[in-house]
Amino acid sequence: MKVDQSKWDVRYQNTQYPTLPSMILTDFIHLAPPGNALDIATGNGRNALFLAQNKFKVDAVDISNVGIKKSAIDTSNINFIHQDLDHFKIKQNYYDVVVNINFLDRNLFSQMMQSLKNNGLLIFQTKLKPSDSIIKRIKSTKSHYLLPNELLEAFHDLHIIYYSEHKIKIINDISFQIASLVADKR
Ligand SMILES: C[S@@+](CC[C@H](N)C(=O)[O-])C[C@H]1O[C@@H](n2cnc3c(N)ncnc32)[C@H](O)[C@@H]1O
Repeated sequence: MKVDQSKWDVRYQNTQYPTLPSMILTDFIHLAPPGNALDIATGNGRNALFLAQNKFKVDAVDISNVGIKKSAIDTSNINFIHQDLDHFKIKQNYYDVVVNINFLDRNLFSQMMQSLKNNGLLIFQTKLKPSDSIIKRIKSTKSHYLLPNELLEAFHDLHIIYYSEHKIKIINDISFQIASLVADKR
């Protein structure tokens, strides 16, 4: 959505986001076969960079190109695709690893599964819905957050390797629960 682009362009202009790769990615990447990687909503490219450093050929999609342009990290080995994921067709049966960190678009779930090659790995982590009062306080929207067990149900056709709802992420003094799923296609 256009509104997502302007919102994120402004955020990346004004905020410094983490440049280290996500731990869920560094912990589980060894399970992915070598080859093609997709980083959904790549932001500043921190996870895409890690994939490229690990010899993957990386496609990284985001509606905002400000994060990656401003990025202090070397994104020269990443195929950055500046597109709205609302209208993005993911290549089918093409990726050895698909990464989705801190982003949620339920409409992409089935495409994500179809995009994996046999033995391909999905690494998915994002926030669970906090209380209604927190959502109101941070002026957010319920649909941006996962429900308990939602990832398990959505990706039950894959082989689940790891699932957790235990970690707590603190952003601006607010504690969020995050759900993490690692699964492969057998
Ligand atoms: C919280 S950031 C996560 C970035 C990255 N995955 C990470 O973990 O560092 C969410 C990203 O989603 C992107 N985004 C939001 N809506 C989008 C859309 N409709 N299409 C593509 N990207 C979108 C934003 O531009 C932003 O970079």
